[in-house]
Amino acid sequence: MSSQSTPDHLIKEAQTIHPVIDLIRRRWSPRSFSERMLDEERLNTLFEAASWAASSGNEQPWQYVYAFRGTEGFSKLWHCLDDGNRPWTFKASVLIASVKRTIIERNQKVNAWASHDVGMANAHMFLQAVSMGFYCHPMAGFYPDKLRETLGLDEFQEPVCMIAVGYLDDPDKLDEPNRTKEITPRTRKGIDTFARKIT
Ligand SMILES: Cc1cc2nc3c(=O)[nH]c(=O)nc-3n(C[C@H](O)[C@H](O)[C@H](O)COP(=O)(O)O)c2cc1C
Repeated sequence: MSSQSTPDHLIKEAQTIHPVIDLIRRRWSPRSFSERMLDEERLNTLFEAASWAASSGNEQPWQYVYAFRGTEGFSKLWHCLDDGNRPWTFKASVLIASVKRTIIERNQKVNAWASHDVGMANAHMFLQAVSMGFYCHPMAGFYPDKLRETLGLDEFQEPVCMIAVGYLDDPDKLDEPNRTKEITPRTRKGIDTFARKIT
């Protein structure tokens, strides 16, 4: 227990004013990952979920490069992360780099919505993961040039974010400040601060 009244697995649940679906309430971005490994089948289910996201013109500009913990590929991806993310991501079961294809296939024009659509696909993955009992943590804290070189990206591919994936472990296994982050309830701006009606 991390709090006197709230069990660990509930402390991150969204406290909503309006009812939202259970998966949205339970999704969060953990840092304490257990030894338990994901398998290829579960990971493919995540990518399948991603593939059913909406995208501008059904362009599906997302690409994923991933590696399991214990492989050379994992080490390569991990070395692309910054100092803030390295201390906890080494225990992730899988590291994923999400990449956007910047050019529309059918007309070779710049796809202005590529980042948006990769974000949509990622969100699908994250919710799918929660439904299967594990979690995804997106990260902008990586070295884009290093990742680009590591993955051999071409001029029409750009990294969007990296993602750590795994099953939850005890928050106490983290050092500070990550331990405290792991047991702090999630907060959000009120909808009145970002949604307004016009008539
Ligand atoms: C694009 C993006 C980049 C992020 N980068 C990092 C990061 O580099 N390191 C980190 O610990 N968390 C990162 N996060 C996680 C956010 O801090 C987290 O989503 C936010 O605090 C809300 O918490 P929640 O996801 O648990 O609801 C990132 C999230 C997104 C969507």
